[in-house]
Amino acid sequence: MSRVKLGVNIDHVATLRQARKEKNPDPVEAARVVLGSGGDMIVMHLRQDRRHVQEADLERVRQDVKGLLHVELAAIPEMEKIALKLRPDSVCLVPESPREVTTQGGMKVEGKNPELARIIKSLSDAGIGVSLFVDPEPGAIRAAHNLGADSVELCTTAYSEAWGKKLQARELEKLQLASFLVKELEMELHAGHGLDYYNVSPVARIDGMDCLNIGYSIISRALFIGLKNAVAEMKRLVQ
Ligand code: PXP
Repeated sequence: MSRVKLGVNIDHVATLRQARKEKNPDPVEAARVVLGSGGDMIVMHLRQDRRHVQEADLERVRQDVKGLLHVELAAIPEMEKIALKLRPDSVCLVPESPREVTTQGGMKVEGKNPELARIIKSLSDAGIGVSLFVDPEPGAIRAAHNLGADSVELCTTAYSEAWGKKLQARELEKLQLASFLVKELEMELHAGHGLDYYNVSPVARIDGMDCLNIGYSIISRALFIGLKNAVAEMKRLVQ
């Protein structure tokens, strides 16, 4: 068993399928290939606008594919209901806004948040692991802990977009410091967003890192070298 788990986000297989609203490429087939090539977990984001993954995709992956399923969802009652019906192994609650191209930073979790706490408890009581997608800031991590999440996924967008070695080192340091706190609070440590074949290694080497969730770079590379090779190549970098 490798030290750092690789969660592979297959949303963009569904993005391509939705371009024609046909059956192919099928996310179920993608999920099988991922798990057969070194991916440890399937990650799928059901967006409110259903722009890529559909509920039926989640149901088929849950039923037909043996392996861990991690679903990214907005923290709203509609998605809570879907998660309680689907019973994925874990969820990551993420911020979502209608016109964004992709997730824009971590959730704002500080301050009183009874509805978020209720949703976290409802999912946890159903035996679903709950992670919160947060920026690598101490306040957000403590708030995630206080809200009852099991894990935090540190948002790596700022690190991934940092221009030049100096800025990137500064963002990496933020992730490292945030990771100390996550471990001190005895939570699982995940990270993701914007990670690719060139920037992933330093994040994978952060002490205590449990899981990296990566999508866009793997699915893009898969177009040229195949999904099996793209996953295996990322897995080698993450180990
Ligand atoms: N983690 C979270 C919480 C996300 O929302 C996403 C994008 O769906 C990812 C990880 C994967 O990001 P990327 O596709 O940039 O690798």
